[in-house]
Amino acid sequence: MSNTRFFAVAFVVAALAAAHAAQYAGWTIPDGGKDEKSPLKPSADLVKKGKGLFASNCQKCHGPLGKGDGPDSSSSSPAADLTDEFRTELNPEGVLYYKIMNGHPPSMPAFKSTLTKTDAWTLVEYLKSIRAPS
Ligand code: HEC
Repeated sequence: MSNTRFFAVAFVVAALAAAHAAQYAGWTIPDGGKDEKSPLKPSADLVKKGKGLFASNCQKCHGPLGKGDGPDSSSSSPAADLTDEFRTELNPEGVLYYKIMNGHPPSMPAFKSTLTKTDAWTLVEYLKSIRAPS
């Protein structure tokens, strides 16, 4: 491979890596995390359970409807509006799962030591139900 071609390829690879990192800047999403699928069977009951978990763990920052307007949401680093349409593409279910488990310190806490995997996937089902379809 000529030098020019080598640098062109290296540039594209670096640009792709940077785009990937920027998309999830600061969040710990393992390789393949975005392709991970929920082990739970979707149902209305699961969404209802997720809503309950959301009320007790997330509502204080993300607000009762997930719009990011809870009383503990800080003005300098506001809690995300989880109903935004673009989040459907940004956060496939595997990414939602890792975002909940690993958080984004200091403003979004990690829940891996307080929630079980089943709880986290149950929350994922609820979050999928509140965001606008894209
Ligand atoms: C102490 C306040 C707080 C609590 C409690 C909290 N969050 Fe967050 N959350 C945030 C903040 C702030 C952000 C934005 C962080 C950032 O982008 O750096 C965020 C971001 C997120 C995101 C990522 C949004 C995106 O598209 O990148 C998800 C998903 C999320 N929270 C889900 C939850 C769930 C589910 C719970 C409950 C288990 C929860 N959060 C509890 C503050 C909180």
